[in-house]
Amino acid sequence: MTRPPLVLGIETSCDETSAAVLRGQSELLGHVIFTQDVHRLYGGVVPEIASRAHLRTLDHVVDGALREAGVRIEDVDVVGVTAGPGLIGALLVGVSWGKAAAWAAGKPVVGVHHMEAHLFATQLEHPDATPPFVALLVSGGHTLLLWVPAWGEYVQLGATRDDAAGEAFDKAAKILGLPYPGGPSIQRAAEDGDPSRHRFTRPLLNRGQRPEDSDYYDFSFSGLKTALRNRVREVEREGALEAEIPDLAAAFQDAAVDVLAAKTMRAVREMDCRRIVLGGGVANSRALRAELTRRLGGRGAVFAPSPRLSTDNAAMIARAAQFRFARGEVAGLELNARADLPFPGLRKR
Ligand code: KG4
Ligand code: ZN
Repeated sequence: MTRPPLVLGIETSCDETSAAVLRGQSELLGHVIFTQDVHRLYGGVVPEIASRAHLRTLDHVVDGALREAGVRIEDVDVVGVTAGPGLIGALLVGVSWGKAAAWAAGKPVVGVHHMEAHLFATQLEHPDATPPFVALLVSGGHTLLLWVPAWGEYVQLGATRDDAAGEAFDKAAKILGLPYPGGPSIQRAAEDGDPSRHRFTRPLLNRGQRPEDSDYYDFSFSGLKTALRNRVREVEREGALEAEIPDLAAAFQDAAVDVLAAKTMRAVREMDCRRIVLGGGVANSRALRAELTRRLGGRGAVFAPSPRLSTDNAAMIARAAQFRFARGEVAGLELNARADLPFPGLRKR
């Protein structure tokens, strides 16, 4: 039997510089994630700063992952690198590095779609998290509800029409004066809050919708953000903002989670598949996981990656690269980064 391929994965699409060495489908031999803390100063990711930070750290991050795995780049069978979507300058650092390293070591290179990789992240820890499943990919840049009958076959059920789910949490945190990234800040503040003291709109969610309606699965978060901003102004005028922050955070989280869970459950019903895979930073939300688990009941499974694998990381890039490599999809040195790289194998419903 031939031994499973050894993959070096590289991720630089946003503000994490990461490298991983993966053998087979789940043997993670080395994994380094360097989170660029500098963006906290600005309350969001500054693209130019992100590119420069990737450039400074990628060498060290890859070295660290190889050392942890106890291998040299010559031992690797294939280099997989995020080719998009993401910040173009940031992507270019990883793609250029990956191509150069692969060329120098005489290895093939595979361009990976960042969101397809998020789908694979869960499987690294939960071998059962394989298709068929309904997937909810929710990060700072994306909100996608997918039906996944098989790896490589993706049906887009819904997407956001404005802000991404994580972006909504980030903007809401800013409105409340809580630190970036917003999701964890809101979660923390909401722990001491009562979600029923404020009631926010559930955009694009109402009982009258039917599966054939174009908004049945779609999301919208910008109205929710505006509702929060208006409520904050009212509370501020009453001079009680500080004391109300936990309740406001809890009510906002409740509304966002309600919409995400309701639309995911619509997919579960229509696809007749009680298996949900979560991916992206918002998959860390305890409220979201709990709500989906509650609505799914006993006869079903919610698979969610650990915090380390739900946010951006190179382990999932290596796993997705391995899938594409096994299908013979090797890129040439013309491989380029694309901020809007189309999702491979994705079709609209
Ligand atoms: O996947 P990710 O690390 O980076 C992107 O590709 O965007 O996701 C980061 C996003 C941020 O918007 C952050 O606020 C959100 O994930 N997030 C959360 C939670 N933890 C992280 N959102 C809601 N609840 C959380 N507990
Ligand atoms: Zn991501």
